[in-house]
Amino acid sequence: MLVSINMTLETIPKKKDCSISVKENRGSNMYQLGKKIFDKIPILRPMLIKGQQNFRPKFSGIGMTSFHTLPDEQFFKKIMSELHKFSTNENQYCYSDKMMDENYWKFYFVAFASSYAVKSTGLSSLVECGVANGYSAFVALKSVKNSEMHLYDAWNVMKDDLISESEKAIRGYYKTLDINFTKYNLKEFGSTRWHQGYIPETLDNSSPKLISYLHIDLNSSIPTFEALTFFYPKILNGGVILFDDYGLNDYAETKQVIDQFLINKNGTMFKLPTGQAMFFVLKP
Ligand SMILES: C[S@@+](CC[C@H](N)C(=O)[O-])C[C@H]1O[C@@H](n2cnc3c(N)ncnc32)[C@H](O)[C@@H]1O
Repeated sequence: MLVSINMTLETIPKKKDCSISVKENRGSNMYQLGKKIFDKIPILRPMLIKGQQNFRPKFSGIGMTSFHTLPDEQFFKKIMSELHKFSTNENQYCYSDKMMDENYWKFYFVAFASSYAVKSTGLSSLVECGVANGYSAFVALKSVKNSEMHLYDAWNVMKDDLISESEKAIRGYYKTLDINFTKYNLKEFGSTRWHQGYIPETLDNSSPKLISYLHIDLNSSIPTFEALTFFYPKILNGGVILFDDYGLNDYAETKQVIDQFLINKNGTMFKLPTGQAMFFVLKP
């Protein structure tokens, strides 16, 4: 049956003017002024008046500001305090205290991805490609009790033939890394397996046969592609691949190779405001 709709534009209810009710609740002129500064000059947000909880962000860093309760604060308070105590070589690439705190949300996604992957596959077999001092590996190992983790890194200067022209700026960053410091930082975990050398050379028979979680943080597109190609067949249905550099402006080529690789793979890509992305793997 055809039902005619007798509504003209005049009879459609108007959208409520929400700005009026918001303004009514906004309170004092001081608040209005603060809000104006807050809206117009985001860079000042972290500095806004102490004690004015309305203005003080709970998190500010890596291009994000948030006023909401941080996730799993109890768990991460402890983790962050341990990460702050990590040992590193003099002049070695490492995070300053400020950088460490700014990575809170990145670490949260590492914890989420690793624990979700293990729960959904029933297998506690983790891989990280790009370990450096071991920050993100530490978070994953703390999040998944009794897991085995294979760690891949050159702990050395990046190789010219493994970085593209647009990635050359980062080449020397890691030349002072020392695997012994990373081993020391992760010493409480008995189940770490160390693969020192350049990817793809280290992707061989000593790698795990089946895995649930793969974290790729290599800041370079060629080894990212090689690691993905090598480990993808080993990831179980329900496993997760976490990409650290997916949305970062400086690593457009990494995003390209990932998108190209995943184009015909079954699963769901979850792109995160930190620049990371999580791929939830679906296999028959
Ligand atoms: C951004 S850092 C990793 C940071 C680490 N996930 C953390 O939480 O501290 C990138 C790492 O990738 C490593 N890397 C880059 N290209 C590599 C390659 N072809 N083979 C092995 N390691 C590589 C570097 O040595 C460096 O330690």
